[in-house]
Amino acid sequence: MKVRESGMPQESIWGAFFEPASILDALGVDSSVSDVAEFGCGYGTFTIPTAKMVSGKVYALDIDPEMIEATKRKAKENRIHTVETMLRDFVSDGSGLEDESVDYVMLFNILHAEEPKRLLKEAHRILRPHGKLGIVHWNYDPSTPRGPPMEIRPTPEQCIDWAGKVGFNSPRRYDLKPYHYGVVVVKT
Ligand SMILES: C[S@@+](CC[C@H](N)C(=O)[O-])C[C@H]1O[C@@H](n2cnc3c(N)ncnc32)[C@H](O)[C@@H]1O
Repeated sequence: MKVRESGMPQESIWGAFFEPASILDALGVDSSVSDVAEFGCGYGTFTIPTAKMVSGKVYALDIDPEMIEATKRKAKENRIHTVETMLRDFVSDGSGLEDESVDYVMLFNILHAEEPKRLLKEAHRILRPHGKLGIVHWNYDPSTPRGPPMEIRPTPEQCIDWAGKVGFNSPRRYDLKPYHYGVVVVKT
């Protein structure tokens, strides 16, 4: 089941909202990280920069074949062989990844899902001990140029609370100007 309000605008519009490399850097995505899973890769806005920064594989999951094709195409254009795209419904079917198989999970602009804790639990399952979960979301502010309706938009406090309830610890918050916040939590 596609997450509510998770459709994408044109790529040029979406891309203008972020500076992916600086966001990833702030959230601890670097060469000390080996394998990564990204739930909802979209156009690959974060997938490709991630693949350039980490030392292992990037599993890029999305339910939309167009998004998977866009991400695949970008990986090819960048001569990146470490991105594994997975056309998959991670809400209904999970990620399909093994227990404790990745070091970092990215839940970027997706935690306004109907059942956020279900995604967080799946992230927890596939992370290796001491692995990190990075969350990015639109600021809880109705003046952002896009983002899910305020009624379903999570606050950083909610994300931290939900993550704590499924077993994550050591939350840290980041201001990802101009429109987003970040949260990083650790599986201990
Ligand atoms: C708002 S976009 C965010 C894309 C990317 N994370 C980013 O921040 O640039 C959400 C993405 O999640 C995908 N998605 C929504 N529901 C999904 C599901 N149940 N399984 C897999 N992908 C899903 C959508 O197709 C879309 O590409």
